[in-house]
Parts: sequence; structure tokens; C-alpha cells
Amino acid sequence: MQSKHRSNVGRIAASAVAALTVLGASAAAAEGVSYKKMADALFAVMESDRTVYTRMVVNRLQNEEKVIKASEHWKDDKALPLPAQMFRFGAEMVAEKNAGFTYSLLSLWPVNKQNAPRTPAEKEGLEAVAKNPKQPFYKEETLGKTKYFTAVYPDRAISPACVSCHNEHRDSPRTDFKIGDVMGGVVIRIPME
Ligand code: HEC
Repeated sequence: MQSKHRSNVGRIAASAVAALTVLGASAAAAEGVSYKKMADALFAVMESDRTVYTRMVVNRLQNEEKVIKASEHWKDDKALPLPAQMFRFGAEMVAEKNAGFTYSLLSLWPVNKQNAPRTPAEKEGLEAVAKNPKQPFYKEETLGKTKYFTAVYPDRAISPACVSCHNEHRDSPRTDFKIGDVMGGVVIRIPME
């Protein structure tokens, strides 16, 4: 028990040091939580909600039970919103609240061209997490007059519904996705004070 406790403290100290190295002491010290830790925590919530919706709602009802489909035109079709739409509706609501960060779901192989990377950091991040999904990508970028902490995390095909829908979609530039593949990335952007 005690040694477990000690190793936890060691880990926290080590990651704090890593965060300080990445961000510089002032940012990490300012509010007690580093940008990196904040982005990681936000992503944990986003990824979990996304997985729950895809597995428990879309994949179960559409692919397994065949009760109802998910559709881009969910309102007209009386269907389920796509996982990517659920994600975007949440992101739009957060943006309206001026919650101190923004986020989006992008891809190097987007069904919707609007979801292609727009900044060099986004492109670099998507390429990095596609190559090495175990390692999130972090970078400071300046857009306009504001400096941002930008984090990119892999978005993986966690369920058969992800793969079948994208591979069969007529606008998809890629048709060979397999379960577990990185299909895109979640970009979280936090303005640095
Ligand atoms: C029923 C079809 C369907 C399912 C299921 C689905 N997607 Fe998508 N996905 C789409 C469509 C259509 C878009 C474009 C939506 C938009 O922004 O207009 C999209 C958007 C995306 C994007 C943003 C880039 C792009 O292609 O436009 C990513 C990344 C993505 N999906 C990954 C996934 C993953 C991972 C899963 C499973 C967790 C999944 N999708 C499930 C149809 C689907």
C-alpha cells in the first residue's frame, strides 16, 4: 500500500516536471493545473462520451438490433444523429459559452471537407497521432494575435459502425478503415494567458 502511494506521488511529480518543461514554469504555476493536464482531462471526457454514444446507442441500435439508423439527415429521416454530429453539437454549445477552450473533430481523410486540418499545427498533429496513437501531440501556435496551447488526440475506430459507415460513404476519400485504426483526431485549443 505504502509503496503504491509513493510511486503515485513520484509519477505526479514526474509529470509535473514534464509539464513544466513543455510549458515553461509561469503557465504551469499560474492556476495549479497545466494546459496539458487540462487538455488531457477534457479529452478523457470527450472520448468517453463519444465511445458510449457510438457503442451503446448507434452500434447497438443500427448495426446489432437494426432498429433505427444513424443519418446525417437525422431530423428528416427520424434517425439518430451521427457520432460526429453529436460531437460537433456539443462543441458548438461550448463555443457559445466562451468556456475558455474550443475543440473539433478533424481528419486527414474527411468525409466532410470542412473537417480537414486548417492550420499547420492541426495537420502536423493529425499526422503524428496517426503514426503513433499512443502519444498525444502538443504544440503552441499563434493565430491572429492569440497564442494557443493546441493538443491533438487520436480518434479511433472503436466500433464496427465507425468502419462500415465511413468505408461505404460516397464522400469518404478512404475506404479501407479497419477496427482500431486512427480515423482522425480531436483538436483541443486553449488560449494561453
Ligand atoms: C452512420 C455513419 C457514421 C458512423 C456510424 C460514424 N461516422 Fe464518422 N462521420 C460520418 C459522416 C457523414 C461524417 C461527416 C459529418 C459532418 O461533419 O458533416 C463523419 C465525420 C467523422 C470525422 C471527422 C472527419 C470527417 O470524416 O469528416 C471523424 C474523425 C469520424 N467521423 C470518425 C468516426 C469514428 C471514429 C466513428 C465511430 C466512433 C464514426 N466516425 C462513426 C459518418 C459516420
